[in-house]
Amino acid sequence: MESVVTIPAFGDNFIYLYRYDKNNALAVDPCDSSAVLNSLNEHNLKLTTILITHHHWDHTGGVSDLKKKTGCEVIGPDKRRIPAIDRVVDDKHVLAIGNIEIHVIATPGHTKTSVCYYIPASNENEHKILWTGDTLFAGGCGRIMECNAQTMFDSLLRLASLPDDTLVYCGHDYTLENYEFALTIEPDNKAVQQRLQEIKQTIRAGGFTVPSTILQEKATNIFLRSDTNEIKTALKMPDAGAVDVFAELRRRKDIF
Ligand SMILES: [Fe+2]
Repeated sequence: MESVVTIPAFGDNFIYLYRYDKNNALAVDPCDSSAVLNSLNEHNLKLTTILITHHHWDHTGGVSDLKKKTGCEVIGPDKRRIPAIDRVVDDKHVLAIGNIEIHVIATPGHTKTSVCYYIPASNENEHKILWTGDTLFAGGCGRIMECNAQTMFDSLLRLASLPDDTLVYCGHDYTLENYEFALTIEPDNKAVQQRLQEIKQTIRAGGFTVPSTILQEKATNIFLRSDTNEIKTALKMPDAGAVDVFAELRRRKDIF
């Protein structure tokens, strides 16, 4: 079995299990406890830890029940809004779970206290892994709900600065509509056209549209390309700064 198990939930949410040693796993944003319990059972894993990216119910809905049934530790930001948290994390905290290190990256924007979790590869056979919650999506980004565009854009750039081969596991399956949106702005972008075809093929084959990689996101995620002349020209904002371009893209996506 792969070390990451993707569990679809609530129509477009992704919950993740990460097996960090033979028998033990952590769960990321477990909104639905029965889906997680079934998957643990299926893979013969014990849940020791929950990682939460932000307080929204569609990321935390299953936390209390899982804590009660498994005795796992709950780790996340913002204890005020997520009372089940046992260990509060903030930017640059490094968690040791089993033999792995998990780096906490504060990414305010979608909410004020959103964080992402990054596992650098411990050897060359392993993948670097990033859980992005509702900050960076495959081909898109989360809505700006509690901060301004500058703050959200800065958070996205922090994620984009991680190594190119990092696997990106996001919190929702909005991948198809993100690339369809991108083509409304840049209909002739060959890389985006090709990525959309790949995504459609993956969906037809019954696969998940995650993970993507940081390299793919930098090349084809329209929000990460806010500073390019191509996007500025497409939006008729030739002299605008990247943050204003990003804000305009986000505004258009909100009503897409
Ligand atoms: Fe959210």
